[in-house]
Amino acid sequence: MAPGPSNLHPRVIQALIAPLTGHKDPYFLGILEETAALLRQVFETRNRATFALPTSGGGGMEAALVNPLEPGDTIVVGDAGFFAHRMVEIAQRLHNVEVVVVCGKWGSPVDNTELVEAVRKHRPKVLGVVHGETSSGAEQPFDGLSDACRETGALLVVDAVATLGGVRLPVDELGIDICYSGSQKCLSAPPGLAPVTVSDRALQAIARRRTPVPSWYLDLGLHARLWAAEHIYHHTSPVLNIFALYEALSLIVEEGLQRRLERHCLHAAALRAGLEALGLELFAHPAHRVSSVTTVLAPAGASSTAVKAALLEEFNLEIAAGLGEYADGMWRIGIMGHSAQQANVILVLSALEQILQRQGFQPRGSGAAAAEAVYRD
Ligand SMILES: Cc1ncc(COP(=O)(O)O)c(C=O)c1O
Repeated sequence: MAPGPSNLHPRVIQALIAPLTGHKDPYFLGILEETAALLRQVFETRNRATFALPTSGGGGMEAALVNPLEPGDTIVVGDAGFFAHRMVEIAQRLHNVEVVVVCGKWGSPVDNTELVEAVRKHRPKVLGVVHGETSSGAEQPFDGLSDACRETGALLVVDAVATLGGVRLPVDELGIDICYSGSQKCLSAPPGLAPVTVSDRALQAIARRRTPVPSWYLDLGLHARLWAAEHIYHHTSPVLNIFALYEALSLIVEEGLQRRLERHCLHAAALRAGLEALGLELFAHPAHRVSSVTTVLAPAGASSTAVKAALLEEFNLEIAAGLGEYADGMWRIGIMGHSAQQANVILVLSALEQILQRQGFQPRGSGAAAAEAVYRD
């Protein structure tokens, strides 16, 4: 129940122990093509350039920035959390790229009016935002962003590491140009792959670069050639991880994307009702809570570290601590993929209730009963 990695479905585990094939084996190449087609369904895109990079979500972020940006360019980043700030840090390492930061408050999204103003004023090559900020539990809305980008020629780059496959993000409808994710969260595949989709508009902007993409390994054009029909060698594909991702994506399509998104909303609502019934304070702004990550403050007097450790030792249940200045005193609970189940929600609430009581915190009511009420509705 941490915000990633989430549990693996037995079919995904089975894929990891399938007989290994070569990365040029026709069987594997067939799976690669089917994986790309499934990714298009989950990203809700028709983008030809849709594939998975052999790296974690952070590598997807780096690829999304180093490909379009070159010396002399500007990027505007909406920064209201730990992972958006990482976008800022990556951009700041790029040679002669001006980084304009539009700050927001942790727990809320960045103000879209301010983002649009910054895009109109600075006319950047890229506007970067995080869809689901895993550090704060807030969801970024997209109103006006794509229009402002199209008006000024900017590319809209979106981090969907914590949301793809769990929270609605129709890439084409929202006008997103580069969107990247991580395999280990709402997709419920093992860590190690970063799904990414790139619009034709972004591919054209990358093709117009005056200088080569400074990272050979993360050059999206080279990955696109590997995943295209010619399968031109770039790296030895992590074959078993691709088999597992293929299986995880197949499960999503079998469940139905819409049903899966609704399942995440339902379990997030039950978890939140339960936490509030216990008397705990949720961190993210009520209007902007992302269903895949719930952030909750530890009550005064309770040790957030000791509670987290007891959950793991006694209940075999993992939740995460806060990040940055909230490293102490906050818990982050994932509602992600195969882990997003009623039994897990009830277990985390009941276990928290017991452990907190031991720490001298008197719960206001029954968390599990409040969650059950949501399920019954
Ligand atoms: C929103 C967001 N972006 C980027 C990352 C980085 O992903 P990874 O740890 O897979 O490199 C994470 C990881 O938690 C994340 O939640």
